[in-house]
Amino acid sequence: MNKIKSIVVASLALTVGLVSCDSGNMRRTPGHIYAPDMTYSRAYDAYTSNPNFEDGLTSRRPVSGTIARGHEMPDHMVEGDTAGYKNFNTELRFTDNELDEGRRLFNIYCGICHGTALDGQGPLYASGKFASMPANLKDAKYLHMSSGQMYAAIKYGKNMMGAYASQLDIKQRWMVIAYIKKVQSENGGDAFAYGAAKAAPAEVAAAPAPAAEEKAAH
Ligand code: HEC
Repeated sequence: MNKIKSIVVASLALTVGLVSCDSGNMRRTPGHIYAPDMTYSRAYDAYTSNPNFEDGLTSRRPVSGTIARGHEMPDHMVEGDTAGYKNFNTELRFTDNELDEGRRLFNIYCGICHGTALDGQGPLYASGKFASMPANLKDAKYLHMSSGQMYAAIKYGKNMMGAYASQLDIKQRWMVIAYIKKVQSENGGDAFAYGAAKAAPAEVAAAPAPAAEEKAAH
């Protein structure tokens, strides 16, 4: 009997203890604060007003000319400057993997019209639903077209062809062009000039070797 009594008392005490823990309304004040500067930030929150700036905004725009990490420099091509288009070019050079990526992007964005064979016979044109013949990039007319003109076509569009500037960033545009130029070079176009110099694995391993090689080359 005593045992049952003590179990009842213990469980009652436990219940009372648990209930008293949950006071029903959350305490929002931290009580005594040791370092108020740390508890209550003195910095302005991003979207609060700010008397220190004329426009009263705390969030500032980046300094003009700032380039976000991982983004390219602007290309400085000017729309309509067709003479400028012709000489426009890039210092970028591409590995085989990047050329593969160029092909992938071409097949996604351009192949529908220009055809995966670059012959202007893409499914959209072949279906008869697109009246304007896309450039046959293997045709003599385009085989020696300057890369800058191609770049302009991608960036601004050309007659019935829309611009692809919002789909392809600067490097991607050049990867697509490098891929086109590669295919053209294999079909009577100019020698391919966008390939990255390949370092043979043996050369990478023997790092100090290039100096000797350079002498030999001169
Ligand atoms: C909706 C169909 C369509 C798509 C998609 C398309 N093109 Fe075109 N493209 C055309 C047509 C049509 C022309 C011919 C324009 C003209 O000369 O009147 C053309 C012309 C061109 C030319 C020649 C430009 C010149 O100055 O004569 C190039 C280079 C070119 N396209 C590259 C591309 C690339 C690269 C892509 C993908 C990023 C692409 N095109 C996507 C339809 C398309």
